Amino acid sequence: MTVDNPPVNAISQAIRQGLIDAINEIAGDQSIEAAIIMGAGRVFMAGADVREFGKPPLPPTLPAAITAIESCEKPVVAAIHGVALGGGLEIALGCHYRIADAGAKLGLPEVNLGIIPGAGGTQRLPRLIGVEKALDLVSTGRQAGAAEAAEIGLVDAIADGELEAAAMDFARARVGQDLPRLSAQQTPPPPAADFFDIAKAAIARRARGQVSPLRALEAVEIAATLPFAEGVKREREIFVELRGSDQAKALRHAFFAERAVAKVPELEDAKPREVAAIAVIGGGTMGAGIAVAALRAGFAVTMVEADDEALKRGLGNVEANLEGYVSRGRMTEDAKADLLGRLTATVDYADLATADLAIEAVFEDMGVKKEVFGKLDAAMKRGAVLATNTSYLDVNEIAAATSRPGDVIGLHFFSPAHIMRLLEIIRADATAPEVIATGFAVGRKLGKVGVLSGVCDGFIGNRILAKFRKQADYMIEDGVLPWEVDAAMEAFGMAMGPFKVMDLSGLDISWAMRKRHAPNRDPRERYVKIADRICEAGWLGRKTGRGWYVYEKGVQPVPNPEVEKIIIEESEKKGITRHPFTAEEIQNRILYAIINEGAKIIDEGIARRPLDIDMVEIMGYGFPRWRGGPMCAADIIGLDQVLAAIKGFSAQDDFYWAPAALLERLVSEGKSFSDLDGS
Ligand code: 3HC
Ligand code: NAI
Repeated sequence: MTVDNPPVNAISQAIRQGLIDAINEIAGDQSIEAAIIMGAGRVFMAGADVREFGKPPLPPTLPAAITAIESCEKPVVAAIHGVALGGGLEIALGCHYRIADAGAKLGLPEVNLGIIPGAGGTQRLPRLIGVEKALDLVSTGRQAGAAEAAEIGLVDAIADGELEAAAMDFARARVGQDLPRLSAQQTPPPPAADFFDIAKAAIARRARGQVSPLRALEAVEIAATLPFAEGVKREREIFVELRGSDQAKALRHAFFAERAVAKVPELEDAKPREVAAIAVIGGGTMGAGIAVAALRAGFAVTMVEADDEALKRGLGNVEANLEGYVSRGRMTEDAKADLLGRLTATVDYADLATADLAIEAVFEDMGVKKEVFGKLDAAMKRGAVLATNTSYLDVNEIAAATSRPGDVIGLHFFSPAHIMRLLEIIRADATAPEVIATGFAVGRKLGKVGVLSGVCDGFIGNRILAKFRKQADYMIEDGVLPWEVDAAMEAFGMAMGPFKVMDLSGLDISWAMRKRHAPNRDPRERYVKIADRICEAGWLGRKTGRGWYVYEKGVQPVPNPEVEKIIIEESEKKGITRHPFTAEEIQNRILYAIINEGAKIIDEGIARRPLDIDMVEIMGYGFPRWRGGPMCAADIIGLDQVLAAIKGFSAQDDFYWAPAALLERLVSEGKSFSDLDGS
């Protein structure tokens, strides 16, 4: 039986029906002694068809198809290549045997879609490989490679050579033998008495508000305590309940958005330029991270620094990043040496004559950037792409410092650049389509999720960040403390509260930005001086051991006691009577500030679609994926409610809270942000 539903053999209604029909045919055909289930194309099966989830379910169900396979009296072998995920693995678990290609990966990633396996996965897996190992796979959604799968008993054999031939030999050898006891008929050995309690606490900590991993644990616990028939019934109930939940809707949105960001209709005919050699200008925090990302992706890299001393430091930064992989056992010394062998270091721009792409990561200063781009223009070959990693500066102005603005683009990485997956691809006015396409292609090769942004102060992500940080500043001046804001936002599901993030990236970056903006600041804008006073005291965050918090080696950060004094003084100076905010109020103010700014960014054409903003926030700023990103979260709350709240806040500050015109338009038309995602 070959499942053939390109591109990933998603188990649609036609596939479920086809499997049942094929099994019936096999059962009735005397000349058939054994059966093999394979996938056509690059994978075995990627799981249930996620596109069907939002729609009314169509019979037959996947559990019915698996029961049909399981009841077959002739041996059925799953021959797995590529991936067997979700429903795909559940089908394999219903087979009598599993044989895998050496490169195959197996997993139950349903939790990442806000659901749990719904076709017996949580019941068969613990019976086959034990409760502990099953819980690990089901609650994390991680994929096990073929070798691990064989070791834990998830597959019976790894194919020696070509999979189909190996599966044939394997099946032939089983003809005439007694069928093995199906996983459904086995009783899993009980785990240690406190196993589930300990696991529950650990999973809840990791999940940060996401429900599905804990419901997965519940299902595995059921497998350990109830008979199979009852277990699958309970599993299905949880699956159906979660499938219709807001979290599942949000996670499905994130899944498809992650794939949709790279689809830019106007770039369809643009052919990316060939890139094999990359020059990185600047070997500081970002340059070294970008160099490591490029080396790991197989590019040849040349690092350029201002002088020999800085070059030495830059190379040291690259080595330190690579050492991080080695010390965590994720890279061998040999591999590290191999990568360093592809790195050239120079202070001479003439050495960049053969590079295909330059990524500039020097100081955030327009004068320095212009000087560097002038040199790149003179040194680099025609057709090379010239990119800047600037956080806030005008890419049009940088492009104008060259004789070839069509070749200039922004490639905005996030710190640490070799780890963070977001890449903002900044299109300036003159950037040629094939240069943008090259940005996407290089980003993909680097393992990044590229999101297209137009030019504005801070592009998509930092513009939103600057906006909502102001709201956080207003709240601390009005009555809360930074650690209360952090706690509320972490309870919301953010990876880290905004004040902790500031300490991590250094308070001097936004201080410099505030100074730059001071001459042009709108007189109607409320300005809070607390952060400036903290910087003036020399507390720039983690790097100085003190910021909003105090950092000491080996101890958990604690609130900086001086900060509270400064905050109270500043409130008093403005005659503000401090008042408390509930966690929900803090969360709403920050979320609605993000949504309102996001809507303005879409309306101005800086972001193409709401989903682009969702991806920036999830991939670059720790926004909880299970909320689908801010724009998806807005749709789930209801745009009319969001707008009403913004209008309510604007009674206190109509400059900051001016409602986005797009939000008002969508509400008056009865539409949601997702209506704009298809365009
Ligand atoms: N249903 C519908 N479409 C799917 C799909 C699925 N399960 N998995 C992938 N696709 C689509 C993608 O959206 C994409 O479509 P596009 O070309 O229109 O953008 C296309 O298939 C190719 O996918 P990728 O771009 O992701 O291709 P990769 O080669 O990078 O990755 C993959 C392939 C590893 C299979 C990856 O797509 C993946 O992880 N898919 C999701 C797997 C998953 O979550 N399965 C569980 C489903 S839920 C389930 O099975 C419930 C059951 O328990 C009842
Ligand atoms: P950094 O100060 O750590 O590194 C800058 C490096 O540039 C220094 O090593 C310096 O010697 C070098 N340099 C200066 N002038 C040079 C010249 N003319 N030629 C070659 N090298 C030169 O700064 P960081 O943090 O790496 O930032 C670099 C750029 O990346 C800035 O534009 C910044 O806004 C941007 N960025 C920073 C992020 C961060 O979190 N640090 C995140 C995303 C972007």
